[in-house]
Amino acid sequence: MCGIVGYIGTKKASPILINGLLRLEYRGYDSAGLSTIEKNGISLMKNIGRVKNLSELPGIDDLEGTIGIAHTRWATHGIPSKENSHPHTDNSKNFSVVHNGIIENYYSLRNKLKDEGYTFYSETDTEVIPNLIHYYYKNLKDEIGINRFLKAVRNACLDLKGSFAIEVICKDFPDNMIVVRKDSPLVIGKADGENYLSSDIPAILSFTRTFYLLNDFEFVVLSRNDAKFYDTDLNPINKELTSIEWDAIGAEKNGYEDYMLKEIHEQVTSTRETVGARFQENQKTCFNELNFTKEYLSSLNRIYIVACGTAMHAGLAGKAIIEKLCRIQTEVDIASEFRYRDPLIDDKTLCIFISQSGETADTIAALKLSKQKGAKTLAISNVIGSSLSRESDLAIYTHAGPEIAVASTKAYTSQIVLLNVLAIYMAEVLENNDINYLNTLKKDILELPEKISQTIEHSECVKDFAKKIYQEKDVFYIGRGIDNAIAKEGSLKLKEISYIHSESYAAGELKHGAIALIEKGVTVIASLTDKDLTKKTISNIQEVITRGAKTLIVTNQDLDLSTFDFSIKIPETNAFISPVLAIIPLQLLAYYISKEKGLDVDKPRNLAKSVTVE
Ligand code: F6R
Repeated sequence: MCGIVGYIGTKKASPILINGLLRLEYRGYDSAGLSTIEKNGISLMKNIGRVKNLSELPGIDDLEGTIGIAHTRWATHGIPSKENSHPHTDNSKNFSVVHNGIIENYYSLRNKLKDEGYTFYSETDTEVIPNLIHYYYKNLKDEIGINRFLKAVRNACLDLKGSFAIEVICKDFPDNMIVVRKDSPLVIGKADGENYLSSDIPAILSFTRTFYLLNDFEFVVLSRNDAKFYDTDLNPINKELTSIEWDAIGAEKNGYEDYMLKEIHEQVTSTRETVGARFQENQKTCFNELNFTKEYLSSLNRIYIVACGTAMHAGLAGKAIIEKLCRIQTEVDIASEFRYRDPLIDDKTLCIFISQSGETADTIAALKLSKQKGAKTLAISNVIGSSLSRESDLAIYTHAGPEIAVASTKAYTSQIVLLNVLAIYMAEVLENNDINYLNTLKKDILELPEKISQTIEHSECVKDFAKKIYQEKDVFYIGRGIDNAIAKEGSLKLKEISYIHSESYAAGELKHGAIALIEKGVTVIASLTDKDLTKKTISNIQEVITRGAKTLIVTNQDLDLSTFDFSIKIPETNAFISPVLAIIPLQLLAYYISKEKGLDVDKPRNLAKSVTVE
């Protein structure tokens, strides 16, 4: 978690750093700080709370430095406080450092440095970094110039265990900054006579579209006009620039009150982008990045889909379609469980990892484990060049555009669409399906954008329902089959941004325990999109109605809706892609309840967009 930005150029650094931090606030927002190099040495400004509090500190506008680093924090080690917020300096205030990640061996490093006479002023793991750099720097007296700074940073980093993206400035080198990453994100945006740094691309997209994407343990010495890259032996390495096609406006709110609402609406276009040019008339589905053969797919013993949170819920929809079309056993795992449960993996296993950010620590660790065990790995991410996609043997992208709101919406629907397209591609390679069925499914997928648009038209009706239930304490979501997967995601959305307790249940499971909680007035929300299971679920809904529940039904079936309190009729489509439509009223419901309660929809408490710690 946490967001970092940096700048080296000819303009005043502090306004640029604040601007970048504001865009990274989704990564953490309990405190923020920045450092610049001024004529009289390193400046240090920190404040608790949001970035706005930092920007209002007296004296911040007087900073003249044209090189600086900044940080917005999501606390891991130590409470949110001024002392614990970044940047951190060494005892002599020669070096200033911002860090995203976790230093697992900080305790032993701290003790070692204490023995060397260093004092610590915060409870953070990060504070060891500037002091360790100082320790090496002072002992590298024979090295001259920037090499001494670089070697000190390199030596310090080799001592660190865990994950880190760090930016370091040094009072002795007012024209340089050194940066490096391991398992935490960091990108460098290159412009004319200046370099921008950030944890993600959108935060600095308004300044440049040309980026260096860093790999683990690549040390970078930045100056205003240059970026020099080195490996761990400090041999120079060549680094290519990558051009980013998104526009900065894509990362802004575009007139919507909140990013989440904008992103819900964007699903019309994002799902279209996900399909892209993969379906061409009279052609097989195009996945040049994969090149699977019939022999390879037929040899698979199983597929694992591994992810966290919403991405894992998308994986449930992926399992359904892959098993249906490819007849390959497919298991869905939560990444934090998978990595510790010694899963049965060999070279006949395909492991698919889904992650919007591509930076989720547990998902990356699960991928590394699968590779060690011999599986082929395939990453599905929304972020080109993300750590997950670079670690993976194969990578495909959802192309949903930047998702800023902490609660995932358009990434989820794009993940489901892409998993369906992938399953169709694999079925075509396997040649084991009725071509007409596949073509109908393709047509249904291509019609989704129009149907999403029709579904969003129910917004006002959802808003009315939100007004009726926003003060509730418990809400239940139920469904069978694919509708159970929708229920899980609907329930997660509500919890995340409205702080209302909610549970999701396979509708048939209710009577095995949870129905004891149903009493007069409790809200039960049911999704009914699979016509083969509709009658069964309706019986379960009747059971809760009999016990006094208030019901909201989301369905694409022609039903007698008069027995339910509220209902939303969404367009009909193939059951395997129905979550893409059925989730929209549930996303909107969570959104409007959160608004009704006056909460911060885009930045819910205790959460961060990218979970880069275990
Ligand atoms: C929920 C949500 C989270 C993420 C999860 C995985 O709205 O956003 O549950 O889905 O943290 O994140 P990614 O997809 O970036 O790996």
